[in-house]
Amino acid sequence: MQRLEILARQLTAGSATNDRTPLLASRDVYDSMHRKSVEDPEGFWGELALGYHWQNKFPARGHMSYNTDVGRGKIDVQFFCGGTTNIAYNCLDRWVAAGRGDDPCVLWEGNDENERRTVTYRQMLEDVCRLSNWLTSRGVKKGDSVTIYLPMVAELPAAMLACARIGAVHSVVFAGFSAEALAQRIVDCQGKVVLTASGVMRGAKAVPLKAIVDDAAKLAAKGGQPVTSVLCLEVPSALRAANTPWDASRDVWWGDAIPIQPPTCPPVWLEAEDRSFLLYTSGSTGKPKGVVHSVGGYMVGVGESCRYLYDMRPGDVVFTTADCGWITGHSYLAYGPLLCGCTVVILGGIPTHPDGGRCWRMVERYKVRQFYTAPTLLRSLLQLGDAWPRQSDLSSLRILASAGEPMNEHAWHWFHEMIGGSRCPVVDTWWQTETGNGMITPLPATWFQAKAGAAGVPFFGVLPVILDPATGKELPGNAPAEGVLALRGVWPAMARTLYGDHERWEQVYFAPYKGYYFTGDGARRDEDGHYWITGRVDDVINVSGHRIGTAEVESSLTEHADCAEAAVIGVDHALKGQAIYAFVTLRGVDHQNDAMRKTLMDHVRKSIGPFAVPDTIHWAPALPKTRSGKIMRRVLRKIASGQEKELGDVSTLAEPGVVEMLIKLRGK
Ligand code: WTA
Repeated sequence: MQRLEILARQLTAGSATNDRTPLLASRDVYDSMHRKSVEDPEGFWGELALGYHWQNKFPARGHMSYNTDVGRGKIDVQFFCGGTTNIAYNCLDRWVAAGRGDDPCVLWEGNDENERRTVTYRQMLEDVCRLSNWLTSRGVKKGDSVTIYLPMVAELPAAMLACARIGAVHSVVFAGFSAEALAQRIVDCQGKVVLTASGVMRGAKAVPLKAIVDDAAKLAAKGGQPVTSVLCLEVPSALRAANTPWDASRDVWWGDAIPIQPPTCPPVWLEAEDRSFLLYTSGSTGKPKGVVHSVGGYMVGVGESCRYLYDMRPGDVVFTTADCGWITGHSYLAYGPLLCGCTVVILGGIPTHPDGGRCWRMVERYKVRQFYTAPTLLRSLLQLGDAWPRQSDLSSLRILASAGEPMNEHAWHWFHEMIGGSRCPVVDTWWQTETGNGMITPLPATWFQAKAGAAGVPFFGVLPVILDPATGKELPGNAPAEGVLALRGVWPAMARTLYGDHERWEQVYFAPYKGYYFTGDGARRDEDGHYWITGRVDDVINVSGHRIGTAEVESSLTEHADCAEAAVIGVDHALKGQAIYAFVTLRGVDHQNDAMRKTLMDHVRKSIGPFAVPDTIHWAPALPKTRSGKIMRRVLRKIASGQEKELGDVSTLAEPGVVEMLIKLRGK
């Protein structure tokens, strides 16, 4: 059955499919709100922001200013100036003050399904205050960076909120990054304090996180940034305290230091434009970018996107499978749902452990209403068969959300029919670490979601445009078009800069097409003004929803003494979306063998992390280059996927014979 038909049926079922009216109940409501958001962003967002606690109110007019045109000077975006607030206060204190202290805030399950924990809003607030007090006792103050390298324990969102409470800027580093990658991020953000755990169980495997932190601290010290305090949570199922490497002059056990702290801590009232957190992400060049978000704009943008896009209301149970090491974990696991007063379900292990029914049993157990995931996980769950979801009662589900990578038809149908019982809208939202909140999306329970999947309409304040990649000119109006996706206008949750490198922020995002924010993605606009994402147009690949810069993997490979040159591309992969494929030129050809492949793969694992290890290493005595020395990746993509008949114009190649040679070496 076609998507349109299915959705038409779903919509004629009307209110039976959704037992309460969503905020955007009709196209008209959406149209008029969207229009206001772009015509009068200051008035529009100013009104929505009143739903949050401001210690000092921002003025109704004059709180907003922006320049997104590099030709006119510094790129600068400001919202809610003159207002002071605190995100942690809005996530926790507000709900406790409203009498909801005994409501569950976090429902956590570990790797072992019998390991369960409920944290109420009051307990969460106390835990956060104790952590804030500890951070303060270690000299952390407003504006200081704190690195968080934790697995998905309830203490992870607590650590984020504890930083937010005192105005410290957290940098959560995904606990799958290697010591070298962690060190690089510690040095870049000048973080003296690291919050971590003894280890974590990933399926049947124990990963010793504290040992990785120790290695990273040594490397960071060499890089000029000593780590002075490490707070370590004992995760006994992975690694007991007694077996954890320890430096008594620097390290403190969570269980010793935190319970003795006072359970109250006044929030630090922050200016709306103060930094809230930074999060490293990948780009076209080798060095990761520390994307910096604001306090007020991020809070309002993310909170409102939860209400309007995912229909989150106080008391709703939200299960997001993302890790807090990525932006989805920040916006739609930690901050957004708590800003809406929801209960957050956290799965601390891998979602297919011990079997394909784990997520669905959790949906049933906690009566999950919003389930937010990524296509990669859907693809691996659907492979495990329909029997698993059939064993659980999924009738509590109302909204199925997804983000991070394109969703293929097969996964979309399975999600919609098997998981959502053809009853729940699939809200597949396009957005980025830099945008802070969802940007282009189908909207739940309105007729125009009928083109769900990877397409949708812009969220408030967002004006997508399609640019001609050759000329940089906007392809006009609402006519169907395909090209580079750029955004006009500003929205509160957009990032403000890259940590310590505002020039790079301007160069990467605003210089390529003057007057626009350049997304790095391509898109197609159809006859109804819906946008379909066609994938990255830059050198970023998306492996299982993880953004990886090809340049990062290349520089890791070429760091190895035996590697003379490397060119990395993404190739289609049934489960991961894209897989990493590396062409490698060795110094000398006598060791083009599997042992060398393993050495190079281990090297990447060590310098970035397991998720960045190439699936394939293709030996390349030489690489196809233009006469000016530029690697022709287009040609490499065709060779890797066996489409050498469609190579296109190779007349600009400096040495045409290279192509033949590479084809012969495929699979060798
Ligand atoms: C891709 C993740 C297709 C896109 C939230 C973007 C998507 C990058 C979608 C950002 C989607 C994200 N459909 N592609 N619904 N959502 N992407 O920063 O290429 O980890 O630029 O943020 O993921 O990845 P990031």
